[in-house]
Amino acid sequence: MTKTDRPVLVFDSGIGGLTVLREARVLMPDRRFVYVADDAAFPYGAWEEKALAERIVSLFGRLIEEHDPELVVIACNTASTIVLQALRDAYPATPFVGTVPAIKPAAERTRSGLVSVLATPGTVKRQYTRDLIAQWGSRCHVRLVASDRLAGLAETYMREGFVDEEAVRAEIAPCFIERDGRRTDIVVLACTHYPFLVNRMRKTAPWPVDWIDPAEAIARRALSLLPPKRSDAPPQGEDIAIFTSGKPDFAGRRLMQGFGLKVA
Ligand code: DGL
Repeated sequence: MTKTDRPVLVFDSGIGGLTVLREARVLMPDRRFVYVADDAAFPYGAWEEKALAERIVSLFGRLIEEHDPELVVIACNTASTIVLQALRDAYPATPFVGTVPAIKPAAERTRSGLVSVLATPGTVKRQYTRDLIAQWGSRCHVRLVASDRLAGLAETYMREGFVDEEAVRAEIAPCFIERDGRRTDIVVLACTHYPFLVNRMRKTAPWPVDWIDPAEAIARRALSLLPPKRSDAPPQGEDIAIFTSGKPDFAGRRLMQGFGLKVA
């Protein structure tokens, strides 16, 4: 059997985690990656909390056994805000890096004091998100905006190249508020699918804002937790993509190939 390096496993409900994978690749060219899309359960945004947490914890039992990852990146806000601690408790030998709404950097950076957090309905509902706002956002006004459609629009865009711009405009519109002559100046992209649509968001936004995409920060965090590699030899073994449905369509397979992943 050919020897393979222990991989970094990147996990999301769909294609959103690819926004994190592409940053991780740049920072860790010497690592092997396994990308897991839990497409059988997409979209996570609509799931009830307990059922979703149970599903993900049990899925990781199999994923860890099969792939023995050196580190796991939960590249999904909707999952991280509910299951991160449960995963760490259930699998203490595996380091987990999560993705949670970037409220702290937004609160530090805003000039107008008006920040919006754009996320799935699941992430908006979470106590975890409310706690982040209480902890970091108390000196500004943070508006939480739930989007039912953007994750699905990003999936369609990346698979088929088509996006309904009017739908994007309508989904982001509630992020923009004006108050006492001030305007929202930062929108936090608190779902890893959204950076794929950021150019359409810029185009359809009523005024320019800073869109915060946490992908690079997450990749840096993962890098900081891994032991340094002693040579610049390429990783042993292929980068692969796994769809939990077991039946990705042609567009899904092509997309993964485009990201240098072989569909297992
Ligand atoms: N990419 C996921 C996130 O970061 C969510 C998409 C979904 O609703 O499944 O929240």
